[in-house]
Amino acid sequence: MSEFVKLWAEIAPIGRADSGGYLRFALTEPELTLRDWFRGQAAQRDMTVTEDGNGNLFAWRGEPWAPGTVLTGSHFDSVPHGGGYDGPLGIVSAFLAVDRLPADRKIGIAAFVEEEGGRFGVPCLGSRLLTGVMDPVKAAALTDRDGVSFGEALGAVPTGADQRIGQMAAVVELHIEQGVALRRPVGVASAIWPHGRWRMDFVGVGDHAGTTRMTDRHDPMLTFAHTVLAANEEARLSGAHATVGRVQVEPNATNAIPSLVRGWLDARAADTATLDHLVDTVLKTATERAGRDGTTLSVTPESVTAEVSFDTTLAARLSALLDDAPILPTGAGHDAGVLSAHVPTAMLFVRNPTGVSHSPAEHASDADCEAGVEALARVLEDLS
Ligand code: GLV
Ligand code: MN
Ligand code: MN
Ligand code: MN
Repeated sequence: MSEFVKLWAEIAPIGRADSGGYLRFALTEPELTLRDWFRGQAAQRDMTVTEDGNGNLFAWRGEPWAPGTVLTGSHFDSVPHGGGYDGPLGIVSAFLAVDRLPADRKIGIAAFVEEEGGRFGVPCLGSRLLTGVMDPVKAAALTDRDGVSFGEALGAVPTGADQRIGQMAAVVELHIEQGVALRRPVGVASAIWPHGRWRMDFVGVGDHAGTTRMTDRHDPMLTFAHTVLAANEEARLSGAHATVGRVQVEPNATNAIPSLVRGWLDARAADTATLDHLVDTVLKTATERAGRDGTTLSVTPESVTAEVSFDTTLAARLSALLDDAPILPTGAGHDAGVLSAHVPTAMLFVRNPTGVSHSPAEHASDADCEAGVEALARVLEDLS
């Protein structure tokens, strides 16, 4: 059994649901168990563990935050019933890559908190706090679906920006690829599409399903349905991606016209102009439709992430080092994208044979994961 297969088996059961997917939400029991596992791995390697005041966890070979350290790692948290590779692959691979490096290399391994925004709504919350692009007081007030705030889960208001991130020599995040574009075991990221999340509250008039005439209704579900179709059509027309994957309905009764439908629009595009046009068009269409339906729409942007172009010199260097590994963009968000504004940053992708991700069906082969470890070790050795 390879080192990768052995180490992977240690975390595979943690937080796995009957669906085969994972429920590893930030700072909940499975994610805390993974953090304990992280501390154990660090201890086995004589690495020093630190936590910043933002919920991010680090293991260091050399002094914590020593200038010139190369930082790697990823996240433990998952989307609801997400795959097991999205995030943890970058952390497991980091420990195995460190094992292959000369002992004098200054390396940090990070487990960033709440990368998916699956619990508190804002993705890459830990790296946004660390780099100062998220206000700690606002972050503390974000609540999960049970009304627990991030501040409560963390036990404190986050400490926010830490300038030491800018003294790292480089950041390299290894991640499973989340589409089908990568046809070799390992690739290098060029860019992350600009993307964001918009909460849409459609308010109508709750009433009786059996007695309210069709012409008398103010049904927000109708406005919502029209909006979902408009988002899909507009995204197709513009080569962008639009998804409504989360919805809440009140009172959520079979025999009641809803009083409220709350849906979250996830929109992404290769460039900012296309994304802006997509979102403007969808929200304008939704507002017009609300006028016809006698409902109202209010929109709250929950997070907007600008386009990321990774350091092209660094990407080319890593590609050359890895036998001309392909360089490709992605539509998925990553902590590395947030960090890239503050420190030279690169990402390595491991092939995903089906391209499926954010699903229990997400998969990568052991051989490709082992190639990923090997590639990460070569990169860390080269950069450190
Ligand atoms: C996170 O994985 C995202 O891009 O949604
Ligand atoms: Mn993800
Ligand atoms: Mn991820
Ligand atoms: Mn992500």
